[in-house]
Amino acid sequence: MRLTVIGTGYLGAVHAACMADIGHDVLGVDTDTRKIEALAAGRAPFFEPGLPEILARNIRNGRLRFTTSLAEAADFADLHFVCVGTPQRADSLAADLCHVEAVVDGLAPLLTRDSLVVGKSTVPVGTARALSRRMAARLRPGVDSEVAWNPEFLREGFAVQDTLTPDRLVVGVTSPEADRMLRDVYAPMLRAGVPYVSTDPATAELVKVAANSFLATKISFINAMAEVCDASGADVVTLADALGHDTRIGRRFLSAGLGFGGGCLPKDIRAFLARAEELQVGEAVSFLHEIDRINQRQRRRTVDLAFQLLGGTLAGRRIAVLGATFKPDSDDVRDSPALAVTEQLVDLGADLRVHDPEGLDNARVALTGPVYCADVMEACKDADLVLHLTEWSQYRALDPVALSEVVRAPRMLDARNVLDQAAWRGAGWQLRALGRPAHVPPPGQGDALRVTIPQSVAPAACAAPAPGDPLSGAPK
Ligand code: UGA
Repeated sequence: MRLTVIGTGYLGAVHAACMADIGHDVLGVDTDTRKIEALAAGRAPFFEPGLPEILARNIRNGRLRFTTSLAEAADFADLHFVCVGTPQRADSLAADLCHVEAVVDGLAPLLTRDSLVVGKSTVPVGTARALSRRMAARLRPGVDSEVAWNPEFLREGFAVQDTLTPDRLVVGVTSPEADRMLRDVYAPMLRAGVPYVSTDPATAELVKVAANSFLATKISFINAMAEVCDASGADVVTLADALGHDTRIGRRFLSAGLGFGGGCLPKDIRAFLARAEELQVGEAVSFLHEIDRINQRQRRRTVDLAFQLLGGTLAGRRIAVLGATFKPDSDDVRDSPALAVTEQLVDLGADLRVHDPEGLDNARVALTGPVYCADVMEACKDADLVLHLTEWSQYRALDPVALSEVVRAPRMLDARNVLDQAAWRGAGWQLRALGRPAHVPPPGQGDALRVTIPQSVAPAACAAPAPGDPLSGAPK
């Protein structure tokens, strides 16, 4: 089939390349000339494992091309996927729909044949219907067009895999023809047994927003439990493991730590809150405010714990930060919890050295203040504290003995709860994590070693260095 993909960000670039890979003739469209030039040359404009290979292969075999011309897109195909961004508005929690509206406004008058426009961007429920009216008002006489919705569930870092082997396909259509066209597009996946849910556009739009809200809720739930663990001496990792054995609950998205960030979960729950208010059902999803608050609190708790570990003085203390991106296997720093913590510590006067395997270029643009280091050892040199903020696998593989020879004091805050605590403590590190005891209690004696997290990082609450703490202020 011939199809276009309008918008070539994370979603669109991957969708275009994967649609070509399953045999379609694809034209990718974007207003950003630099992005289009890079893609046309087979270069992914962002880090995504597997994408460069799939791009190059399909450009070589002629099934994938790129353009900045909407007119060329209108001429090329009768099926257009819309993959442009829907960021949070600057003045409210709502999603900014100006990019999807611009696509419809630009494309509609250029269409000369009946067409199917399929939105994939995450949008508030009711958007397809509104866009359909907008489209109809701009079409040439005699030309008809349907707006359908086909939300995307890909995760950054696994985008190619998630697109080629999705766990479900959801389409919201208003005609059997649209359903048939979309079944044809995804025929290889349907043959492979991928569940296909065909519904109305409103339900399809809502599936996406509800899925991201559920995932965010799961993460904030376990982070709330981590706070209770800190107050009671319990261990949130063991708690999550035990909960996860219940197949009704499941272990995935139950990893406590610094919380969620990125270009999707935070803005999607806020846009959902805003849309529910408009629909007069704000109360039904008001719990999402709390989900957001719990999530933001993890950033503050991490700063508080860093403060406590440094004995209450941050000014001039050197802190190494491992990870700047919002998650591993991505170079995306949008609403990155790691960068938010880094920024707060810079503001409090600490001397920050940040390492990230792929995100340094984006981090440098997003946050000035820290020193960015291409090498982990360089970032950790003479550090009074190391913060593990994004769980890249290479950090799990670090040798705690070798690292202890580089830092000024072997203190580690594992804000992602993935480092081997016994190995790091065995190598002489003072290791702390959110929701986990400061020391490993002997079985059955957890209460004897109860830990207290400071109330706040506000100067008045500065904790004095713990008496007898062999690490407080001790130069290496
Ligand atoms: C998310 C959804 O997982 C995708 O299904 C969806 O398609 C996508 O948003 C989107 O709307 O486009 P993504 O933003 O790539 O995907 O990231 P996730 O893997 O969901 O992680 C989000 C954040 O949650 C990260 O900061 C991660 O570190 C954090 N997280 C995840 C936790 O703190 N704990 C967990 O147990 C899992």
